[in-house]
Amino acid sequence: HQSDVSLASLELGPYDHYMQKEIHEQPKALADTIEAVLELGFDAALFGESAAQRLAEVEGVQILACGTSYYAGLTAKYWIEAMTGLPCNVEIASEYRYRDAWAHPKHLIVTISQSGETLDTMEALKYARSLGHEHALSICNVRESAIPRASDLVFYTRAGAEIGVASTKAFTTQLVALFTLAATLAKLRGRLSLEREAALLEELRALPGSVQHALNLEPQIHAWAQAFAAKHNALFLGRGLHYPIALEGALKLKEITYIHAEAYPAGELKHGPLALVDEAMPVVVIAPNDALLEKVKSNMQEVRARGGELFVFADADSHFTDSEGVHVIRTPRHVGILSPIVHAIPVQLLAYHAALARGTDVDKPRNLAKSVTVE
Ligand code: AGP
Repeated sequence: HQSDVSLASLELGPYDHYMQKEIHEQPKALADTIEAVLELGFDAALFGESAAQRLAEVEGVQILACGTSYYAGLTAKYWIEAMTGLPCNVEIASEYRYRDAWAHPKHLIVTISQSGETLDTMEALKYARSLGHEHALSICNVRESAIPRASDLVFYTRAGAEIGVASTKAFTTQLVALFTLAATLAKLRGRLSLEREAALLEELRALPGSVQHALNLEPQIHAWAQAFAAKHNALFLGRGLHYPIALEGALKLKEITYIHAEAYPAGELKHGPLALVDEAMPVVVIAPNDALLEKVKSNMQEVRARGGELFVFADADSHFTDSEGVHVIRTPRHVGILSPIVHAIPVQLLAYHAALARGTDVDKPRNLAKSVTVE
């Protein structure tokens, strides 16, 4: 348990469920996690005492995690490779620990875990050590838990206690931590100009406000959720940085509503999943105005042509409007490279409200535990 858990943080207050409370706490959780970054800039000291020397030696990044934390890692791969020029591999901890993995002593092991106690992630870390990896960094929400204690470097997210089994505020704060890692590695490698650093810090500063705007979409998302509650399947699509958010949206929906949901990078549709699409298949698309938008639009036409109903999250610059079989919710002004963090909010709210409509146990879904300390 966290040493800084106050009793107040365990009370529901005006909320009906911990998941609802935790979704709404995200502007504060993000602001708290960002605080030290805004003070120091992208400084290695954020990751611990020996961090400057260790991070300067890094020649690649190997991320290990499970579930939602793994999806945070997948997002980080896009940031790390684009910003640092280092190779970044992301793997599910329970797979990595049982294979003959390729290792490089100067590749930084990054474990991501809300609880810091997930057995598979802990064992993957030990295995990476046995393969000769010299530097291990943990991104964790619970202070002094097993995984950060077994790591050389730590970044604690400051989400506060997360009680709901479905991870929400831990995920978005993990993303901020990983973005900070990417920017810090870039800076150490001379790939981040002072102007660019200042601009990125400004984007981070504005993030809690953008997340609050996303939370304000709740009434519209509630309306969509009523339609979802009656479905048996759902497909989530995204591309690039928003593909992991599609994965996270599908995981949230299946965990708490028990609706079968899958996510694909939209470009994969034609390679198989398009066969699933008919009038009974709702397709959620995360489609902000980025470099891949035109590609996403043509993927959406493929869905419409098969009768699939589209539920699109897109910012104003994407220029989507409602039409037959196409429902659009406008997400906040595009926040550039941090956009996946903002787009995590609507998919959390969609799952939450669909679960309420189905009457499932939102905070304690069947068959699942908050912290998976067994195999
Ligand atoms: C997410 O909603 C989950 N319940 C689950 O996937 C979780 O993210 C996973 O078990 C990893 O937990 P950790 O972050 O505490 O290691």
